[in-house]
Amino acid sequence: MSRLDQPIIREAVEADADGIAKVLTELVAAGKRSKDSNAAFALGHYISDPERIRCSVAVTPNGEILGFQSLKLATENNPYEVAVGWGIIGTHIRPSAARRGVGRALFESTLEAARYKGLPAIDATIGAANPEGLGYYEAMGFREYRRMEGAICKIFHVPKV
Ligand SMILES: CC(C)(COP(=O)(O)OP(=O)(O)OC[C@H]1O[C@@H](n2cnc3c(N)ncnc32)[C@H](O)[C@@H]1OP(=O)(O)O)[C@@H](O)C(=O)NCCC(=O)NCCS
Repeated sequence: MSRLDQPIIREAVEADADGIAKVLTELVAAGKRSKDSNAAFALGHYISDPERIRCSVAVTPNGEILGFQSLKLATENNPYEVAVGWGIIGTHIRPSAARRGVGRALFESTLEAARYKGLPAIDATIGAANPEGLGYYEAMGFREYRRMEGAICKIFHVPKV
């Protein structure tokens, strides 16, 4: 991707549900995901989730969503057992757009939202057998702080504003 082709980073809106679902579907086809990947899931789990702090999408000039990053607030009984009040991050980039800086650009937007919200820390729970996910979060400044069955949890300490 040349600099002129850099995607636009913006907050997801309901109309992005199909585009986000296509990202998830491409990940399933590449064997990198096994969970739901339809538009209803994208809407409920990312765009309109009540715990959403920010869901950012990376969009090409012609409107194709290349990837997205979700930041949610950890509340009581969250599925990852993350400390209440921290953020929970998830990142999904189309395999066809990987390693071109899309994830890095999305994290700038997420970090801005985390600082604005006053989060102390963000948790990334990554499959232990997912070297690209582990490498990506490490490069963004996350560090391992605990292990769960089949997963490694990394923490990012959010600098105060
Ligand atoms: C992991 C993922 C989010 C990375 O996104 P990306 O847009 O490809 O990442 P970027 O191009 O912005 O890379 C930023 C840095 O992360 C690291 N990184 C990215 N992909 C990597 C890989 N495959 N192996 C090792 N490090 C990697 C590198 O340090 C990279 O910087 P560099 O290219 O200058 O060396 C993306 O590949 C993805 O969505 N994978 C499938 C889903 C997933 O695993 N999500 C995260 C765990 S839940």
